[in-house]
Order: sequence, then C-alpha cells, then structure tokens
Amino acid sequence: MPDLRVKIGSLTLPNPVLVAAGTFGYGLEFTSAIRLDHLGALITKTLTATPRSGHLPPRLAVTPSGMLNSVGLQNIGLEAFLETKLPQLRRYSVAVIVSVLGESAKELAEMVGRIDRADGVSGVELNMSCPNLEEGQGTGGGGQGGDSSIPLPPVSRPLPRLIAQDAEATAAMVQAARAKTSKLLIAKLSPDVTDLRPIARAAERAGADALSVGNTFIGMSLDPETRRSRLGSLTGGLSGPAIRPLSLYRVWYTAPVVRIPVIGAGGIVQAKDAVEYFLAGAKAVAVGTANFVRPDAARQIVHGIERYMIRHKLSAIHELYGAIDFHSPWP
Ligand SMILES: Cc1cc2nc3c(=O)[nH]c(=O)nc-3n(C[C@H](O)[C@H](O)[C@H](O)COP(=O)(O)O)c2cc1C
Repeated sequence: MPDLRVKIGSLTLPNPVLVAAGTFGYGLEFTSAIRLDHLGALITKTLTATPRSGHLPPRLAVTPSGMLNSVGLQNIGLEAFLETKLPQLRRYSVAVIVSVLGESAKELAEMVGRIDRADGVSGVELNMSCPNLEEGQGTGGGGQGGDSSIPLPPVSRPLPRLIAQDAEATAAMVQAARAKTSKLLIAKLSPDVTDLRPIARAAERAGADALSVGNTFIGMSLDPETRRSRLGSLTGGLSGPAIRPLSLYRVWYTAPVVRIPVIGAGGIVQAKDAVEYFLAGAKAVAVGTANFVRPDAARQIVHGIERYMIRHKLSAIHELYGAIDFHSPWP
C-alpha cells in the first residue's frame, strides 16, 4: 500500500486527511458513521473562553454552488470541552487538534496554556477570523468568527478587520499562543485578504508550526421579496465546491513562501479534489462541508487517494507535493 503518512510539526499523522473545524462537531457525534482512527486528525469546532449560543437562525443558506453559514461560534466553552468531551475522545486513537478563538492575545494565551496542560490533545489550531477588538476597529466581519449579527456599519465608517486580515495582529496572536504551548500550533488564515503572503510569513515568524489555508469566504445572500438576509446574521461564510478553485490558488500562492506545511481546505469532496491541493503544495487537507453530505467523506477520500496513488504508481504521498506539470493542457 502507498505510504500516506505525513509529518506536520512534531506530529506524524497516519494520513493527510483531516476534518475541518466546525464541520465535525467535537468528533464524538460522528463515531457511528466513521472510525475516528481512520482520520489523519480531528479538528474540533472552535472553542471560546466562555460558552456561546451562536447566531440567530437561519444559520445556513444554500447558494448555487456552495453553502453560506453563520453559526456564530456556538460552542460549550473550552472548560466544558476539556471536562466532558476530551475524556471521551481519549478512547480513540486519533490526533485531536483543538480549535480556539481568543478575543485578545491575553485571553488566547490563557486558553492555549490550559489546553497545553490537558492530556490527549495533540495540537491547537488558532481560528483568527475574529474582529481585531484590540485595534478598536469594530464588530464582526462575517464568517464563523465575527459577531456578524450586528450589521456592518455604513461604508463611510471603517469596515471591521479580522485578526487574520492583518499581519501584525496575526503575529501577536500566534506569538501569544506559541509562548504557552510546545504542542503542534496551526494558524488558520482567512482567504479574505488582498495578499496572503505577508500574513503567512508573519504567522511563521511568530512561531506557527503549520498554516491552514483556509477558512470560508465572507459572503451574503439577500431575499429580494423580503429584502432581508437569508441568514439570521447579515453575512456568513461561503464553503463547499464553489470555493475550491479560490482556496486552491491561495494554497499554491502561499506554500512557496513559508517553510512550514500548509494544510489546504475549501471544497474538498472527493479524493481528486485533495490531490489537486497536494499538487498545489499542501502537505495535508481538511475536509469541511462534505462531512454534512457524507459523514464518512474523509474515509472515502483517504481510500480514493490510495487508489489514485496505486494507479499512478506512487509509493509515498510526498511525491505529489507541488508536483504540478506546467505543460499546456493541450496535447
Ligand atoms: C457550518 C460550518 C461551521 C464552521 N465552523 C468553523 C469553526 O468553528 N472554526 C473554524 O475555524 N472554521 C469553521 N468552518 C470553516 C471550515 O473549517 C473550513 O475551513 C471551510 O468550510 C472550508 O472548507 P469546506 O469548503 O470543505 O467546507 C466552518 C464551516 C462550516 C461550513
């Protein structure tokens, strides 16, 4: 069988297919559909310092080729996760990566320190799609992080910026987390920026072991009849196949400028989608929206990658990394 193992920071994962934050609950909800030890790793939904009830419904809106969500970080809070979910997750031999969002560098540092002391956690992913409150720039920008139930201000006022939209703010958050853990530290970047490279480099310099590229794209959908948003909040995050070409490009654009591995995410539904990401330079991938359609999507994708590698006579996954053939598609 081909060797699918991949090293991300200090962790060696059995295969390069992870499940993306927020699309696989705390993992336990999926145990009847998929064996967790078949996953490369499990990323939990984003946890905050205190429980959050999330945005008002509706939280999902279907668009022609993707899904808009405004879950608004509904979660039980870090402490409850560590006390009630983590002990159950320890029964499974899967690397658990805890996704966290801190509202300030201080809060994030405390959360990461707490996770570092917990048994059974392999790593931390920083969801930096939250508004940069320390800069006093306002409220929410959409996607999963921002409190986008508060309408965006009129354009005459400065639009809110997310932490992940700012290299310095990203570095400050990563640095704060790095100081508190020696576990795998992944910085999850937002695709909603003009240029991802400086932000990726800042995260690497600040001590991230890997980058997730990336999160949903901020979007909106309005009902012309009611003139209201189709979501309970004004904006949401677009995910699914619609964003795959956009995320793929961002992986290809970002991977060469950092030495740390890039985990690609966005619209991965089948094995061939994951292969596209490896060719573009990703070392691993995270499957998101597809989990809602097929709860065992990640396992199917792992099988499909194996079959692809056998068909292409590849013995190890790294043979695919960055292996784009630049010849014209025309014969
Ligand atoms: C319903 C839903 C909830 C999500 N919640 C989170 C979250 O809590 N934290 C996070 O970092 N990303 C979250 N995401 C983003 C996904 O982890 C992933 O980055 C994104 O959806 C792109 O992958 P996909 O197109 O395969 O879904 C969420 C996505 C969806 C669709």
